[in-house]
Amino acid sequence: MKEQLLIYGAGGLGKEILSLVRALGQFEPLGFIDDGLRKDTVVKGIRVLGGLDVLNSFTTPVNLVIAIGDPSAKSILVKMIDPSRVYFPVLIHPSVIIQDEESVAIGEGSIITAGCILTTDIRIESHVLINLNTTVGHDVALGSFSSVMTGVNIAGTVKIGDGVLVGSGANILNDVTIGNFSKVGMGAVVTKDVEAETTVVGIPARKV
Ligand SMILES: CC(C)(COP(=O)(O)OP(=O)(O)OC[C@H]1O[C@@H](n2cnc3c(N)ncnc32)[C@H](O)[C@@H]1OP(=O)(O)O)[C@@H](O)C(=O)NCCC(=O)NCCS
Repeated sequence: MKEQLLIYGAGGLGKEILSLVRALGQFEPLGFIDDGLRKDTVVKGIRVLGGLDVLNSFTTPVNLVIAIGDPSAKSILVKMIDPSRVYFPVLIHPSVIIQDEESVAIGEGSIITAGCILTTDIRIESHVLINLNTTVGHDVALGSFSSVMTGVNIAGTVKIGDGVLVGSGANILNDVTIGNFSKVGMGAVVTKDVEAETTVVGIPARKV
C-alpha cells in the first residue's frame, strides 16, 4: 500500500509538487493544507483539508511536503510544525540525474524537480527546492530552506547559505559564496560573494 502524503500549499508550486508526487507513484496524495483557501476546495482532484491545525488531527506522524517557494516563509512554517507529527520525505523526480549518488547528501524535505543534473560532492541541507532544469556542479553546498528556481546553473565550489532565493535563469560562477537569506534576481550572473540578507540583480550581479 502506498504511503499517504499531505502537500502544504495549494498554489502554483503546490500543483507542480502534486504532479511530481503523481509521477513518482510512491505516495498517495491525501490532501492539501492551505491556510488561505476554504476547506474542501478541490485543486486538481485533491481536497484542501484545512490549515495548519489539520496536522493535529492525525494520531500518527504523516508525510508532509512543503510546496512554498519563498525561503523565509518556508523556514517560519517549519518552525511552527511539531516535528513529532510529521515526516518530511525527500522527493526527486525520476528524470533527475545525480551522477555520483554516493557523494551527494540530501536533507529531509528537500525537493528536486524534473530535468535537474547534479554531479559530485554536493551537500543539500533540509527543505531545499531545486527546480526544473537546474544544474549543480561539484563541491556545492546548499543551505536549509533555500529555493533555486528554474534553469539555474550553479558552478563548482559554490556555497549557498540558508534561506537563499536564486531566481530563474541565474548563473552562479565558481567559488562564490552567497550569504544567508539573500536573493539573487532572475537572470543574474553572480561573479562575486554576496553578503547575507542582500538582494543582487543583473549581469554582473549588483546589490539593489
Ligand atoms: C530579485 C528579486 C527577488 C527582487 O524582488 P524585490 O525585493 O521585490 O525587488 P523589486 O521588485 O522591488 O525590485 C528592486 C529593483 O530591482 C529591479 N529588479 C528586480 N528583479 C530584477 C531582475 N531579475 N533583474 C534586473 N533587475 C531587477 C527592479 O526593477 C527594481 O529596480 P528599480 O529600483 O530601479 O525600480 C525578484 O525581482 C526576482 O528576480 N525574483 C525571482 C523570481 C523567480 O525567479 N521566479 C521564478 C519562479 S519559478
